Amino acid sequence: MPELVPSNGHAAGHTAHADAYCLCDEDGREVARLPRLEATLGVGAVDVRHLLDDAKITTYDPSFSSTASCSSAITYVDGDAGVLLYRGIPIDALVEKSTFLEVAYLLLFGELPTANELDTFTNDITHHTMLHEQLASFYNGFRRDAHPMAVMLGVVGALSAFYPDSIDILDPAQRLISIERLIAKMPSIAAMAYKYSVGQPFVYPHNELDYPSNFMRMMFSVPAEEYRQSPVLAKAMNALLIVQADHEQNASTSTVRSVGSSRANPFACVAAGISSLWGPLHGGANEAVLAMLQRIGSTANLPDAIRRAKDKDDPFRLMGFGHRVYKSYDPRAKVMRRIYEELLEETRTQGDPLFELAKELERLALEDDYFVSRKLYPNVDFYSGLIMKALGIPLNMFTAIFAISRTAGWLSHWKEMIEDPDQRITRPRQLYIGPTQRPYVPLRARGDGASGSKLPAGLPMPSEKSIVGG
Ligand SMILES: CC(C)(COP(=O)(O)OP(=O)(O)OC[C@H]1O[C@@H](n2cnc3c(N)ncnc32)[C@H](O)[C@@H]1OP(=O)(O)O)[C@@H](O)C(=O)NCCC(=O)NCCS
Repeated sequence: MPELVPSNGHAAGHTAHADAYCLCDEDGREVARLPRLEATLGVGAVDVRHLLDDAKITTYDPSFSSTASCSSAITYVDGDAGVLLYRGIPIDALVEKSTFLEVAYLLLFGELPTANELDTFTNDITHHTMLHEQLASFYNGFRRDAHPMAVMLGVVGALSAFYPDSIDILDPAQRLISIERLIAKMPSIAAMAYKYSVGQPFVYPHNELDYPSNFMRMMFSVPAEEYRQSPVLAKAMNALLIVQADHEQNASTSTVRSVGSSRANPFACVAAGISSLWGPLHGGANEAVLAMLQRIGSTANLPDAIRRAKDKDDPFRLMGFGHRVYKSYDPRAKVMRRIYEELLEETRTQGDPLFELAKELERLALEDDYFVSRKLYPNVDFYSGLIMKALGIPLNMFTAIFAISRTAGWLSHWKEMIEDPDQRITRPRQLYIGPTQRPYVPLRARGDGASGSKLPAGLPMPSEKSIVGG
């Protein structure tokens, strides 16, 4: 068996400061030298880029559990300690003191902006919030009951057809204008998806308002009435946007990086991020949390829900619990819980039954050995769904709002990747486990294959009614 030892000869893992590891064959001969890369926080990495050339072997890590796909200076997560830093700054400090656009600037450019820089950035974003009028006609092509995420990924992808002047990704000025266009237009696109679904007229952005307030107005105002802006709700929306803005190499961010590595334009990259975010194991979880709480209905049903979540023969899981990285309380969930409590207090909502249910579920799960031993704590989606409900946001818009906020993170990673000379087109290797080379058998010599057919018996033919969407 090949053995991995630090280049100073000690067994692997015994020397913290080894600057390289050697992969040795059974006779102790070095077959590859693997430099050690240090991180500024958290664990370092073994550089295996030349492993295939040097040792004729690859590494196997299908869900990237132990693989760093890039180096990044944007976000740091310590899953064991429950720490989340954007460019080194703790998430709770940002939620308390900052605005979403200031955080977007921080993520994109690495430093908090000066007052002038923030003014310029805010002004640029504010003046790109409107959509090309022709884009509005895209919405008519969708069914009214289409999921807003389906609409968003179509419309965001289509932006590349409207802004061909900003898709040369090798031009820093074009990169910046695309980034600003995307961050500016995402709330407008999401709010229009909502308005279309409820049959109300689109509401245009208002340049006097800040980013969260503008979004809330585009969602909830109607031409027939004066819209009253609520600072309390805008504050909660600001917190929600900040908390969800980035989370290092999660599935959708890795998707954006992967698509961007082929030099696809940023509109196409963000549309791919939206697709990945939509899944129930990722951004779709906050919608699933609320649906789950509503289905559970009352605290009397909680023990049964916990029993089902622990039953391996039952597919039911406690949505909003567990995380690939956090093995202690998700710091975002902690912030979200506090914001939710504040929101209930400020809106004078006493004893919200769903909050009572959520708190009790959290209490029961955290006393249960199944969840404790597996380190399954509430994640960000557990409380963000409740906040969105309190803000009056309909269930099917939850993930769309996540997408608005995560666009800042996606684009920061996209920009970092394009500017990183180490990044080439993403092209993983595979461990091939298919048949070895074999001859082609002509059709007449293959028998009827009836018993061993790999195809299902056949799909039902669509009825005329379903074809016309009735
Ligand atoms: C987030 C999630 C996908 C992480 O998955 P993962 O890192 O691959 O972890 P696993 O699925 O391997 O889970 C590890 C163990 O905990 C159990 N587990 C994980 N999440 C669970 C949950 N929400 N409810 C019940 N059991 C859960 C698994 O069954 C497994 O048990 P086992 O070791 O006895 O087989 C997973 O925890 C989950 O599905 N959570 C619910 C969805 C959710 O809230 N997603 C939002 C993430 S921000």
